Amino acid sequence: MSTTPFDRHRRLRSSSVMRRFVRETELQVNDLVYPLFVVEGDQIKNEVSSMPGVYQVSLDYLDEEIDELLKLGIPSVLLFGIPKEKDEVGSGAYDPDGIVQVAIRQIKAKTDQLLVIADTCLCEYTSHGHCGVIEHGDVDNDKSLPLHVKTAVTQAEAGADIIAPSNMMDGFVTEIREGLDEEGYTNIPIMSYAVKYASAFYGPFRDAADSTPQFGDRKTYQMDPSNRLEAIREATSDMAEGADFLIVKPALSYMDIIREVKNEFPVPVVAYNVSGEYSMVKAASLNGWVDEQAIVLEKLTAMKRAGADIIITYFAKDVAKWLQEK
Ligand code: PBG
Repeated sequence: MSTTPFDRHRRLRSSSVMRRFVRETELQVNDLVYPLFVVEGDQIKNEVSSMPGVYQVSLDYLDEEIDELLKLGIPSVLLFGIPKEKDEVGSGAYDPDGIVQVAIRQIKAKTDQLLVIADTCLCEYTSHGHCGVIEHGDVDNDKSLPLHVKTAVTQAEAGADIIAPSNMMDGFVTEIREGLDEEGYTNIPIMSYAVKYASAFYGPFRDAADSTPQFGDRKTYQMDPSNRLEAIREATSDMAEGADFLIVKPALSYMDIIREVKNEFPVPVVAYNVSGEYSMVKAASLNGWVDEQAIVLEKLTAMKRAGADIIITYFAKDVAKWLQEK
C-alpha cells in the first residue's frame, strides 16, 4: 500500500445508494415538453419516415395523444400545425380557425393540466417554406413581423399558455409582446427561440412538418454554428425585449452555449433536443447498436447538467415511462 496521500474519489461511488445520495443532476418528468404535429384532415396518423415513433395526427386522434401525456404526467406540449393549403404569405398560420388554433381550443376544452406552447412561425404554412414573406429572394424582416404578431395573437386567443416564436426575425419579441399586450394577453409568457442555429439537425423535422425551404436555406436568419458571441447578442436582445424563457437549439452540439446562456441570463433556459438528434439515436437503437434508454437518459441528463431547466424532446413519452419504472 502506497503511503503517498491521494484523493479517494471512489468513496462517493461505492454503492448505488451512495451514488444516489451525491447525485448533482436529476432528470424529472416536470422538465419535459413533448412536440406534437397536428395535421389538417381526418383519420390521419402518419408515422414520419425519418422519425420512427413520431406521428402527424389529425384532430380526431388528438384527444388520445393528450390522454397519454396526461397519464404520463408530462406538463407541456409544443404544437406545430400542418395545413392543407399553403400560400406565399402563410395565411394558415394566423387564421383564427387554423389547424393549430383549433387544436389549442380542443386541448383546452379537455384539460387544464397541460401547458400548451404554440410554435409561432410561418414556415409550415408558406408555399416557399421560409419563415416569413419573400422580397427580392430573401425573407423580409419588417414585412414578416406583423404576420408573426397576428399568428401569436390568434394562438393566444385560442387559449395558448405560452407563445414560442421560432422565426428568427429581428425584433420579434418586442413586436409580439406589444401585440399580445394590446389584446390584453399581458400574462402570456414568451418562450423565445433566442439562440437558433442554421442546423443540419432539423432535416427530419422538415419532413415531419413539411417545411423544407423550396429555394435557398435559412442562413440569413438562423445563426452560424461557428459563433458563440452571436448567441450572447441574440439572447441579450431578447431579454431586453421581454422574453420570459430562452431556447437554445439544437442542444447536443451546443452544450457550451446552453451553459453560457444559463450563466448570463436569469430566466429558465430551454434546450431543444431536435429532430436530427432524435433520429440518430433511433436509427442506431433500431439497429441494436446502442442501448436506447441508457443513451437517451444520459444525454438529457447532460443537457440539464449543461444548464437546461427545461427540455423539448421527441423522447418525452419514453423518458416519462422510464422515470416511472425507476
Ligand atoms: C420552425 C421550426 C423548426 C424547428 C422548430 N421550429 C424548423 C426549422 O427552423 O427549419 C426544428 C425542430 C427540430 O428539428 O426538431 N421554424
